[in-house]
Amino acid sequence: MPSTPNQDRDEVLRLLRTVAADRPALFQRADALRRARLGDAVPLRGIVEFSNICANNCLYCGIRAANTRVRRYRLSPDEILAIARRMADWQQMTIVLQSGEAPSADGDRTLGELIRRIKKETPLAVTLSVGNRPRDVYARWRDCGMDRYLLRFETSDARLFAQLHPDGTLVERLDCLRALRALGVQTGSGFMLGVPGETLAVLADNILLCRELDLDMIGIGPFIPHPDTPLAAAPNAYAADPELFFVALATLRLFNSDAHIPATTAFDAVVSGGRDLALQRGANVFMPNSTPGEYRKDYLLYPNKPCVDEDAGQCAQCVVLRLSALGRTVGQGPGHSIKRPAGPRPERWPGVTAVSEDILGFDLFPEVER
Ligand code: 5AD
Ligand code: FES
Repeated sequence: MPSTPNQDRDEVLRLLRTVAADRPALFQRADALRRARLGDAVPLRGIVEFSNICANNCLYCGIRAANTRVRRYRLSPDEILAIARRMADWQQMTIVLQSGEAPSADGDRTLGELIRRIKKETPLAVTLSVGNRPRDVYARWRDCGMDRYLLRFETSDARLFAQLHPDGTLVERLDCLRALRALGVQTGSGFMLGVPGETLAVLADNILLCRELDLDMIGIGPFIPHPDTPLAAAPNAYAADPELFFVALATLRLFNSDAHIPATTAFDAVVSGGRDLALQRGANVFMPNSTPGEYRKDYLLYPNKPCVDEDAGQCAQCVVLRLSALGRTVGQGPGHSIKRPAGPRPERWPGVTAVSEDILGFDLFPEVER
């Protein structure tokens, strides 16, 4: 018999409440599932934080517009291309272009042209992570060759979302994800762990929403208070039990068997060797920082970020050593989603069924548009 939503929620909560003595077994289950579904090869996505200019004021984020202590920068398309051209040699077959959310006056056409050039001049898959945009902008980027998009929903609790984000609503965010999916773009989302006000019930719903959205990629990481934000003095909701971050990661894997889940940088900021532990507790992807060294200290979404004193070449070498120390290999292909068929976009992704409208209020997966 298929499980009911309430049974699933109870099961997620039960896993999240796993006591210390039973956590190693939970981690092993998640690791075994990761190995069975995605193997030991770890796809590398080189992240280029190409601009810290942001129009928004998310309460938690170090590069929020109101933080005047940040030195703002933006890499030129030529600078970004120069990095992209080196990435295949570093076995980073995906470039992730991330920035603050600052739509440009030209309707983001410059970014589209950059995508086109990267696709033409390199073998890389291109992922963008630049925030909410109208559907036609996403469509234009897709037509330029964009393969994937990352846009975290941050929290599944609409009220909490509104408190944290003066510039938008959860419904708008989910609408963006719906648009991306309908355009046939591999879609990633995710959430922060332990934002102030989060309860274990919200965390459970975050995990279930990821499954509900049938995401290709899921990025999660602990909330870390940034001193120059309104949440400077607000501790992580699970500060007393940092291992819970990994319990949440393992549970996320058990409920999202086929999603690409990166070992995100924020795990390193709260636990020494956190990204390596994440790779052993459900994560299967690594995102080495490929931002030029000189800009890294200006892209601090949270304090304690690792690799701030390194440059792109150093992280590229370090990751290979880290993976071999864990008995893992570097993924060789583009590392596309294993949930969608390769090649031309089908009329409708197979296996995608109706989404519970009580969570979202709309059908998340209409016909895929060609
Ligand atoms: N702590 C942890 N994660 C943060 N992010 C932004 N600010 C913080 C913070 N203070 C995360 C958000 C965003 C991603 C790019 O970084 O989840 O989506
Ligand atoms: Fe950056 Fe190790 S990944 S120094």
